[in-house]
Amino acid sequence: MIGNRKVAIIGAGYVGSSIAYALALRDIARKIVLIDINHEKTDGEAKDIRHGIQSMGTADLYAGTYADCADCDLIIITAGRGRLPGESRLDLTNENVKILDSVIRSIKQYYTRGVVLVISNPVDILTFKATQWLELTDGMVFGSGCILDSSRFVRCIADYVGLSTGVINGYIVGEHGDGQVPVWSRVTVGGIPIEDYCRDINRKWDEEVREEIARQTRTMGAEIIREKSRTHYGIATCVCLLADAIINQRPTICSVSSVLMGEHGVRDVALSVPSVVGPSGVRQRIREKWESDEYRKFFDGVERTREVLASLQ
Ligand SMILES: NC(=O)c1ccc[n+]([C@@H]2O[C@H](COP(=O)([O-])OP(=O)(O)OC[C@H]3O[C@@H](n4cnc5c(N)ncnc54)[C@H](O)[C@@H]3O)[C@@H](O)[C@H]2O)c1
Repeated sequence: MIGNRKVAIIGAGYVGSSIAYALALRDIARKIVLIDINHEKTDGEAKDIRHGIQSMGTADLYAGTYADCADCDLIIITAGRGRLPGESRLDLTNENVKILDSVIRSIKQYYTRGVVLVISNPVDILTFKATQWLELTDGMVFGSGCILDSSRFVRCIADYVGLSTGVINGYIVGEHGDGQVPVWSRVTVGGIPIEDYCRDINRKWDEEVREEIARQTRTMGAEIIREKSRTHYGIATCVCLLADAIINQRPTICSVSSVLMGEHGVRDVALSVPSVVGPSGVRQRIREKWESDEYRKFFDGVERTREVLASLQ
């Protein structure tokens, strides 16, 4: 049975407000509550979205308090500082782990049910800590991880082959950050391996092309931040897809971050692998087969993430 379709968004900055706006436009939730330490600004954001034309979103959307985290289908955490131009996501670690600590303590006072989705960066580290602190069933806490990177990857490939994004299938796995891993061995165009497709249409396909697409994908976030100081629209659309899978019971497969439980021989870190996402969060992490170089890069990311986690204790 579909629940009451209630979503709480913690942090009503650029990312939280854009998510609220996207969820409202798509009519994905019935109730959307925005929660932030800056209540006045949050009230303004809620009113601004709520007062749009009714036929483009009928959700009950308002600025609330942590008490509104009770009886949610989905709680989305976006509280925390974003990257400044030139910073890496890992530069946010100490500040945002502290903010997450206070957010989780507050959620815990009122939490009754629902999936918890972490968006704040560094998302893999924060997903691990949120999972540890909330102590819910496996999969109920997960992070957006590489869903946005995968979306950027698909866009770059689609532009290269001159087709729409709908026919491209491909994932970025591992860290949502500079160590992200494009799984080239699994990329398809209309279900056809990309190498075969490019050969057939006489489009160059070699290491140089792959490296350029991987570079564009990896640096896209930093490029947008350099140009406009923040990124928020792209992640908001990704969250819409995940929220629809969770709230409206439309299971999907995305590369999102959750604590690995032995997949690829890894545990005790949260990283992205293609995962089945549905009403109970990450239902399954798919043990996809990769090439040896892809595994090596993934395991390098595991080590880096472990080191950051160890430095927190
Ligand atoms: N996962 C992704 O793909 C992705 C993409 C874009 C941004 N992000 C991350 O999302 C986060 C938010 O980015 P933004 O641009 O919205 O930043 P922002 O500064 O616009 O908003 C952050 C909000 O968090 C609030 N906040 C701080 N401490 C809080 C607390 N204890 N409780 C409740 N609210 C609190 C602030 O008042 C502010 O409104 C950043 O960490 C950013 O790096 C992630």
